[in-house]
Amino acid sequence: MLPEHAPFSPDQRRAVEIALAGLDPSQRFWLAGFLSAGGAPATAAAPAAAGSTKLTVLYGTESGNAEKLADLSVKTAKKRGFQAVAKNMSDLAPADLAKFENLLVIVSTWGDGEPPESATAFYKEFMNGSGPELKKLRFSVCALGDTAYEKFCQTGKDIDARLEKLGATRIHARQDCDVEFEEPHATWLDAALKAFGPSAAGATLEVATAAPVATEFGKKNPFPSELLEKVLLNGKGTTKETWHYELSLEGSGMSYEPGDALAVIPVNAPDIVEGILKASKLSGGESVEVKGSGSKLLADALREDFDITALSRAVLTKLQALSGSEKLAALLADDAKDQLKDYLWGRWIADAIADFAPGGLAAADLASIFRKLPPRLYSIASSPLAHPGEVHLTVASVRYQAHGQPRKGVASTYLADLVEKGGQVPVYTHQNKNFRLPASSDTPVIMVGPGTGVAPFRAFVEHRAALGNPGKNWLFFGDQRYTYDFLYQTEWQEHLKDGNLTKLDVAFSRDQPEKVYVQHRMIERAKDLYAWLQDGAHFYVCGDASRMAHDVHEALITVVEKQGGFSREVAEAYVEDLKKSKRYQRDVY
Ligand SMILES: Cc1cc2nc3c(=O)[nH]c(=O)nc-3n(C[C@H](O)[C@H](O)[C@H](O)COP(=O)(O)OP(=O)(O)OC[C@H]3O[C@@H](n4cnc5c(N)ncnc54)[C@H](O)[C@@H]3O)c2cc1C
Ligand SMILES: NC(=O)c1ccc[n+]([C@@H]2O[C@H](COP(=O)([O-])OP(=O)(O)OC[C@H]3O[C@@H](n4cnc5c(N)ncnc54)[C@H](OP(=O)(O)O)[C@@H]3O)[C@@H](O)[C@H]2O)c1
Ligand SMILES: Cc1cc2nc3c(=O)[nH]c(=O)nc-3n(C[C@H](O)[C@H](O)[C@H](O)COP(=O)(O)O)c2cc1C
Repeated sequence: MLPEHAPFSPDQRRAVEIALAGLDPSQRFWLAGFLSAGGAPATAAAPAAAGSTKLTVLYGTESGNAEKLADLSVKTAKKRGFQAVAKNMSDLAPADLAKFENLLVIVSTWGDGEPPESATAFYKEFMNGSGPELKKLRFSVCALGDTAYEKFCQTGKDIDARLEKLGATRIHARQDCDVEFEEPHATWLDAALKAFGPSAAGATLEVATAAPVATEFGKKNPFPSELLEKVLLNGKGTTKETWHYELSLEGSGMSYEPGDALAVIPVNAPDIVEGILKASKLSGGESVEVKGSGSKLLADALREDFDITALSRAVLTKLQALSGSEKLAALLADDAKDQLKDYLWGRWIADAIADFAPGGLAAADLASIFRKLPPRLYSIASSPLAHPGEVHLTVASVRYQAHGQPRKGVASTYLADLVEKGGQVPVYTHQNKNFRLPASSDTPVIMVGPGTGVAPFRAFVEHRAALGNPGKNWLFFGDQRYTYDFLYQTEWQEHLKDGNLTKLDVAFSRDQPEKVYVQHRMIERAKDLYAWLQDGAHFYVCGDASRMAHDVHEALITVVEKQGGFSREVAEAYVEDLKKSKRYQRDVY
């Protein structure tokens, strides 16, 4: 059958279809594609035709974005007649690349320019090994990242360069995507599929009628969730500000599993909007164009649409082009990387405008330097079985002093300062397949979650309790002080009493002169910890990525080394195996 978009009248269509029916399948495939060329994309997936181009979409992901884009890429490629499959870097070795002829890579960057956790083994071997010869391979890379980070899209850049070095042919230029990755990905995919050659482009055999799509809440269409409850978890006298939020999902049709996250779409605080207007010497009453929303009052756009705080090289580059500042050009020079890093620390966009465009900016120019305000993810702290129709979060308000000014995080303080009980928060759920309870109900679980890192473990323990799972659960929790910062203390004590929690070890870092952290408790409990691991326990870590996750990882290796009587190398391999078998999972940020 011809695709619906083929440019024929009904009579022409019938005649062509009769003619096509007389041909063998591969001829039919070719001709249908040829005749349909120039039409709109097909509306539904077509089965791959015999002889159509094989395509592998290789992805590396931590929080699921690259995986989603890989699935979407496969669907689109199939519609165009490719025999496409998605493969996770965690399931492949670099040597496997030699088996492929056509490759799309979609990979994110984490940490300080590092690959996603699950892609680390692949990445390390690919970058460091002798590497397979890839002369027959044609490829294109889509790199996911965030321009707020110094090493923007580093993993994608590294893989792109390495593929070329190993002899593969880049058929389409790498696409580096900021947090708004949907559109750049779609443009890249379209061009890359076309570049793979005419043999598959536009070809479809069967085109089913597209099923009506149910209203789905997501980034572009968030659910206005009612804030049912907000409770400050720290006691009086604390230096921390950690909130427990309960939000309603009633009527959204959205579901989640323990381990998933909730994306919150914040607005900017009035004082931050004021700061930008003041630095730019504008009133806010000017009209500006906002992509996807049309014309808006500048003050509204600054509040709702633009990322007006996160200062990055990308923002400064645009500001330099507008202001012509030589001082800023010098700061952006290749040999001034350290000076740039120093300048960026603790500064916002308003500071840079004041420093480098002291005369102010025209409203349209100001609007052109911002990216879209990105949603923030929060690990879900509730089980849907224990709290049907609700989702709970544990959020640390980000507040600090820099350059003599009080500063605050956009989303965490939006929830704390701008949303009252009964108010609405735009949200959508974000699946995290890389952070899941064990499939088996009796598998022991070890959870390390200092500070807000405890959030998903509240969900884990509630969920296992609601299911009546017999598996043992062990929590390592840490925060600054026992008296003020023992998040969910009474709940943990109840869980211990009811047998839902088998063991609880706590590390309060500031209750004694020397720091005591969760990893110190792990070392103290090394014998039991190793016994649990030997018994098949799954090991989970959540919370701070910058220091804690690394230190806990090292402690885990030490536990295995000492208790197993292994060398450091063997202990490292043991821990690497835990990761590969998905018994060691992390949700760190
Ligand atoms: C998968 C995932 C799960 C998460 N789960 C949770 C969770 O359960 N609970 C939680 O609280 N957070 C969680 N986060 C973090 C959360 O998404 C936000 O990053 C966090 O709330 C800060 O966002 P914000 O908008 O308030 O701050 P932003 O406006 O994004 O500001 C943060 C920025 O401020 C700067 N900054 C912060 N502190 C300082 C300082 N002391 N000195 C100088 N500069 C500083 C840094 O540049 C930092 O990147 C999670 C993140 C991910 C990716
Ligand atoms: N991207 C963001 O902007 C953002 C926003 C919010 C949170 N976060 C991250 O998420 C983390 C969680 O925040 P939180 O305030 O709930 O808790 P936190 O800052 O991680 O603090 C929890 C406990 O961990 C301790 N700790 C500090 N360094 C550690 C280490 N190397 N190993 C183990 N424990 C260590 C802290 O001790 P001391 O404080 O006494 O050292 C404290 O007792 C933050 O550290 C932060 O990195 C990031
Ligand atoms: C803790 C953290 C660290 C990150 N580090 C970087 C980085 O160094 N460079 C970068 O370009 N993007 C960085 N990002 C942005 C991610 O690459 C981006 O969110 C991406 O869309 C995630 O895709 P994934 O869900 O497929 O892993 C970081 C994000 C987080 C939360």
